[in-house]
Amino acid sequence: LKFLILSGPNLNMLGTTREAAIYGTMTLAQIHDAIRQRAAALGVSVECFQSNHEGALIDHIQQQRDSVAGIVINPGAFTHYSYAIRDAVADAKLPTIEVHLSNVYAREEFRHHSVIAPVCRGQIAGLGWQGYILALEALTTLAQNK
Ligand code: DQA
Repeated sequence: LKFLILSGPNLNMLGTTREAAIYGTMTLAQIHDAIRQRAAALGVSVECFQSNHEGALIDHIQQQRDSVAGIVINPGAFTHYSYAIRDAVADAKLPTIEVHLSNVYAREEFRHHSVIAPVCRGQIAGLGWQGYILALEALTTLAQNK
């Protein structure tokens, strides 16, 4: 079993300049390491990809969708307005879990709405980097029980 782990714009700055009080102190490379470790323990594989570009994220979904059993996606600010990423996720027809490091519902009004969530199986917000791990565990269980 293989899963795609996607992160959107500005998440490459985690653990460096991006607000640590909101997003935590781990870098994206460290989060990817933690995901790979958990994947190994679960006996699954992952492909981790980050981009600041909407089209690059969409290209990746299109290229990988036939080789993976599900998607974990933190679309960053694209969450709130990218109908193009939403359409790519819908067209992939894979169980997809939307992850947010921060509790978007406790923040600015514009972060309360996700245009991606309606085409996802579920959403995890506010649990920091653990959200990615929990999403991977959930997708693994869903795929194994299918
Ligand atoms: C985020 C929340 C988004 O509103 C924000 O634009 C991000 C990160 C999160 O992980 O909490 O870039 O997706």
